[in-house]
Amino acid sequence: MVIRGMFAPVLGAVLASSGGVVHAETEVLNFPQGFKWCVATAAHQIEGGNVNSDWWAFEHQPGTIKNGDVSGDACDHWNRVLEDSLLMKTIGVSMYRFSVEWAKIEPREGEWDKSALFHYLAEVETLRALGIEPIVTLQHFTLPQWMRLRGGWEWDGSPAAFERFSRKVYETIGHRVRDFVTINEPMVPVVGGYLAGLIPPQKANDLTAGVLAIKGMLRSHARAYAALHDLASAASRPVRVGFAHHLRVFDPLRPLNPVDRVAASIFDNAFNWGFYDAVETGRLKLWIPTMMNVDVVIPGLAGTQDFIGLNYYTRDMVKFSLGGTSGLPMELVANPDMMKNDLGWEIYPWGFYRILKKIKARTPNKPIVITENGTADHDDSFRQRYLSDHLKALHKAMAEGVAVEGYCHWSLMDNFEWVEGFEPRFGLFEMNYSTMRRIPRPSAYLFADIASRNRVERDASVPWGSWRK
Ligand code: BGC
Repeated sequence: MVIRGMFAPVLGAVLASSGGVVHAETEVLNFPQGFKWCVATAAHQIEGGNVNSDWWAFEHQPGTIKNGDVSGDACDHWNRVLEDSLLMKTIGVSMYRFSVEWAKIEPREGEWDKSALFHYLAEVETLRALGIEPIVTLQHFTLPQWMRLRGGWEWDGSPAAFERFSRKVYETIGHRVRDFVTINEPMVPVVGGYLAGLIPPQKANDLTAGVLAIKGMLRSHARAYAALHDLASAASRPVRVGFAHHLRVFDPLRPLNPVDRVAASIFDNAFNWGFYDAVETGRLKLWIPTMMNVDVVIPGLAGTQDFIGLNYYTRDMVKFSLGGTSGLPMELVANPDMMKNDLGWEIYPWGFYRILKKIKARTPNKPIVITENGTADHDDSFRQRYLSDHLKALHKAMAEGVAVEGYCHWSLMDNFEWVEGFEPRFGLFEMNYSTMRRIPRPSAYLFADIASRNRVERDASVPWGSWRK
């Protein structure tokens, strides 16, 4: 057995303090003092009543959402902020990532809903009173419908509109919040909305519009970044602003096949790193042969990321193919030999470690927050192992010098999973949507145990990196 790294994982530990019986091969992974245990949610998925958003309009088109679901009252979180904050407290959460809903705050262009702003102030105060640090996302997939009708992120007025909105949010809650995520997973709505065309704005195979949207998001982020820093420095407060990047592992389906390898690396660059690097360098470079060749400088963008938010879920295998998915010269396929979650996503903890190491290599001096990681598991049959194994991957990366400050599990409770509707179950708490009761799953107890002891214990004899079938 090798003991290495700053936390020195200990095998064969005896939990005298808890009186628990620990298997001889239990591996104990301690996290550094002050590490943040967090859960993540998004407004549209849990609050309910998001009537002025583009997604509300979209969901009400027949055939857009699985089983004909609509977000409706979702988890009724809007009316249950205290209850849900207390749930967090019971499972040892010390940080909570959630989003404020632009469509509720500015339901019509230039018109501010003071009660919505007050609602979020009350939410932040509630969290603070419970000793939970808020990390606030300004935009998590939904836009106000008025903004969508103007062209969403493609609209050349979007940076000014987003800056104005960000200022309003900061003026309301900035005295109680240090960390802001401007935009959640910017590349996901581009693939879903402009390549597949399955989510707003439903433009299939329209990369020209997709690139306009990417530029709009980058410009909007840069404006919000500068505005939040100006406001914070005028008030002598600390602030940190970043993105939540959705980064996936892309591996060649046939590892020895040179075209699959090239295709995987092209996709990795276009999806994972084009946007990411642009925020660092101020220059957006995106290249997919025959489809896209972008090289543009965006003024004010370079260096506008104080921390890296990472959402990690899975890996895709890439197969070169002419006429592949959405006209791409490649197809994304699930690895047939590996275990999948309820949505068919490969469970691949080793990929979490790989991505963290890549982040460190690209942006060595930036602190990292795991802004999302979790899985769809309706009967909680593998979530506990998923959690432990991903935390092992995280711990290993940290032991090798990757600076991660906290881990947000997606999600606190089951919620509205976008086009998949209410069927997928990502929660530590199970939602009964008829009674709105939140019922703790065994994974919630495990999370509480991990958070309260600031450590993970797992059976060292069980392989963890790749979950083979
Ligand atoms: C998104 C969440 C979503 C989760 C599970 C992330 O990509 O930020 O909104 O529910 O994945 O699909």
